[in-house]
Amino acid sequence: MKAFRSLFSALLAASQVAAMPPSRFAKQHILSASSKARPFGIGHFSEWSRATKKAFLVDWQAGKASEWIIVQGNEGGDLDSMTAALTWAYHLAHATENSTHPVKAIALLQTASHALDLRPENKLALDNSQMTPDHQDLLTMDELPEDPETLSRKLTGIILVDHAEPLRKWSHAKIVSIIDHHKDRGTAPDAKPRIFETVASCTTLVARQMLDELENLDQEYHMPHELLELILSAIAIDSGGLTSDKTTAADIETSKRVLARSAWSKKNVMEVMEDLDDELSDAQKDIDRLGLRDLLRRDWKGDLIDTPSPSTPTVSLGFASIPYSMDSQVLKTNFAELFDWFAVHAAWTAEVSVDISICLNKYKKHHKNGEKEKIREIVLTVRDDVRIDQDQADSLFKTVKEALENNNEGIELVPWHRADELSARQMVWTHKSGAGRKVIRPIVEEAVMKWD
Ligand SMILES: *[C@@H]1O[C@H](CO)[C@@H](O)[C@H](O)[C@H]1NC(C)=O
Repeated sequence: MKAFRSLFSALLAASQVAAMPPSRFAKQHILSASSKARPFGIGHFSEWSRATKKAFLVDWQAGKASEWIIVQGNEGGDLDSMTAALTWAYHLAHATENSTHPVKAIALLQTASHALDLRPENKLALDNSQMTPDHQDLLTMDELPEDPETLSRKLTGIILVDHAEPLRKWSHAKIVSIIDHHKDRGTAPDAKPRIFETVASCTTLVARQMLDELENLDQEYHMPHELLELILSAIAIDSGGLTSDKTTAADIETSKRVLARSAWSKKNVMEVMEDLDDELSDAQKDIDRLGLRDLLRRDWKGDLIDTPSPSTPTVSLGFASIPYSMDSQVLKTNFAELFDWFAVHAAWTAEVSVDISICLNKYKKHHKNGEKEKIREIVLTVRDDVRIDQDQADSLFKTVKEALENNNEGIELVPWHRADELSARQMVWTHKSGAGRKVIRPIVEEAVMKWD
């Protein structure tokens, strides 16, 4: 009897543990044993996200995709893009939930789910917001049940966040709104709201608009603390904890408003943002184990570009951003030699059918006196086996090379120290200007659009 009772109490204790809501404690100890122990996230935000994904797929299967708006960030899939899209979709759906025309809105991450895993900081931020592991609550590109060209004609429309114009494959969709911090390219002049403003994080613009609208409602909808914390995380990492040169008054002001509603409302905004930035930046840097192919994939942005003359067809242009020097990337290849960098790179651009590729590298050079210097590199290559032939490839390479070398942005390009070892239609430069993708991409795109 005694043995039975102790067995019973052990079972009872076990069943109570099983029935307990998962907590951070449970997560650490149960998840490490088996990821099946916690199949779904537990937060309100995770529940909403999962329910929305389900509703979208149910409606799609029932032929009702036309009722939906897809909120999409850019295809790099960084924390800012992901958070901006999730935040705006949440806001739209909730702000209209009791109206006669509730909006059906879903965030789409324009990356494949496996590419999200190449961003450890996203994984950490989603985990902190109690989302289901492996991004299962989120709709990613590889889960889209229909190709964008067809789907875009059926939808109510799309909303662009952290993204100035839609990718070619979405060009048939009506653009309902744009909220962005890139260069305004005049896309969808009638979109509402249509917000372009230079701030560190696009999430700042989305959160500010959301709070403005929320505070104007007769009755506020529920704002889950997980979402507020995700917003603060995105702003923190893009603004260096509100201390980087890119930080604007809007980033700081919006962070304060978001913080005031969060579980951390008693804390100092600068301290919270510094902690978040430290934690996420450490995670972000945890990519040393990635090989060159993964580094190319993890922050890859590309699209088709039309050229003016009939003799020059539409070309596909891709951009990678990689936080390592060319020299250290070479060491990450199988043979650890320069030829292998170009072999791995060519295999990747062949896989994604890209004619012209730009890799933007960024790293810190450590000098003997202890000082660190920020160095950037630009790698330009053009293929002749996708959409263009060899003569066209030679001419396109020359056009883009000249546009980069003669830029009007004050970027002084210096040939890389091994530039003399490069082959046809390959070039590598270094520069010390702060110009990243936001500056380089328009230079290259404008050159391609003028190529004839
Ligand atoms: C919609 O109604 C629910 C239930 O009454 C309420 O909790 C929620 O705040 C309302 N939302 C808005 C935006 O008014």
